[in-house]
Amino acid sequence: MSKSAPFDLSAWVKSRSHAVDRALDGFLPKGTARPATIHQAMRYSLFAGGKRMRPALVLAAAEACGGNDSEAMPLACAVECIHTYSLIHDDLPAMDNDDFRRGKPTNHKVYGEGIAVLAGDALLTQAFEIAAQARSWKRYTHQDLILELAKASGSLQLIAGQVADLEGEGKDLSVAQLRYIHERKTSALLCCSVRLGGMSANCTPAQLQALTDFGYHVGLAFQVIDDILDVTQSTETLGKTAGKDVTAQKATYPRLVGLEKSKKIAAQLTGKAFAALKPFRGRAVALEALAKYLLDRDR
Ligand code: IPE
Ligand code: IPE
Ligand code: MG
Ligand code: MG
Ligand code: MG
Repeated sequence: MSKSAPFDLSAWVKSRSHAVDRALDGFLPKGTARPATIHQAMRYSLFAGGKRMRPALVLAAAEACGGNDSEAMPLACAVECIHTYSLIHDDLPAMDNDDFRRGKPTNHKVYGEGIAVLAGDALLTQAFEIAAQARSWKRYTHQDLILELAKASGSLQLIAGQVADLEGEGKDLSVAQLRYIHERKTSALLCCSVRLGGMSANCTPAQLQALTDFGYHVGLAFQVIDDILDVTQSTETLGKTAGKDVTAQKATYPRLVGLEKSKKIAAQLTGKAFAALKPFRGRAVALEALAKYLLDRDR
């Protein structure tokens, strides 16, 4: 018998992204629902062309635990809503002041700052409305699911990272301080994504632990790579303004340890993520392929 065909990540991501887009479209109020401005603004950023990596991680984790995409889908959509809200607010003049995102003008450039703030608020709230519609189990109740999302996006995690990121501008932070920022502003939501995927599939406590370990390391690698891409890629490739971190004097890995060392760190973190998947004994193919893709990506 020949070995089974290699896993086709690009086809997998394409089909999952389409499914996520369809589900998001169904969960969100129509663009014509009053007041139309806010619903159009929410949809503008949500459907602007993000990579959909967090929903992909939710679905891949569910699949690794023997679950199915339809039961994981509300949670996949919820994390994408939270992520998109965080980007809309991250781009505001009061934060990173970016004009370009997902290959388009940023939300506030199109709708104005007031509506952009509200579109972010609305997507954050929408996330919980969607998550509340997920299936629950005896082991993972709705309370568990909602707590998971709230904690990852709250003032001890994602928001804490964003605060420290802003306060770190122009300062020479230590690697430990930078790690603190990355753990919170990025890794927390990626880790939450794989955990929610596992929970949607009624995973075992051991599987949840493995997913947590995987998500933590993939999440850290993700932000180190984001920092690297800011200096190595063009605005056109990224779909967001390249070189912004240098201009804003952001604390980043390339600034702190240089480009080559940053690349090594990203590879090491990805290696730790792979190692965390061992208990799945080859059944976490999509997760493994995603981690590799995220390391090698150019946007
Ligand atoms: C960008 O995330 C923000 C970070 C946490 C680094 P992504 O690179 O996943 O952005 P989209 O969703 O593809 O636009
Ligand atoms: C954004 O980090 C993290 C969150 C939005 C939570 P960055 O500021 O590095 O993301 P980009 O580079 O603007 O996408
Ligand atoms: Mg930022
Ligand atoms: Mg930014
Ligand atoms: Mg960045």
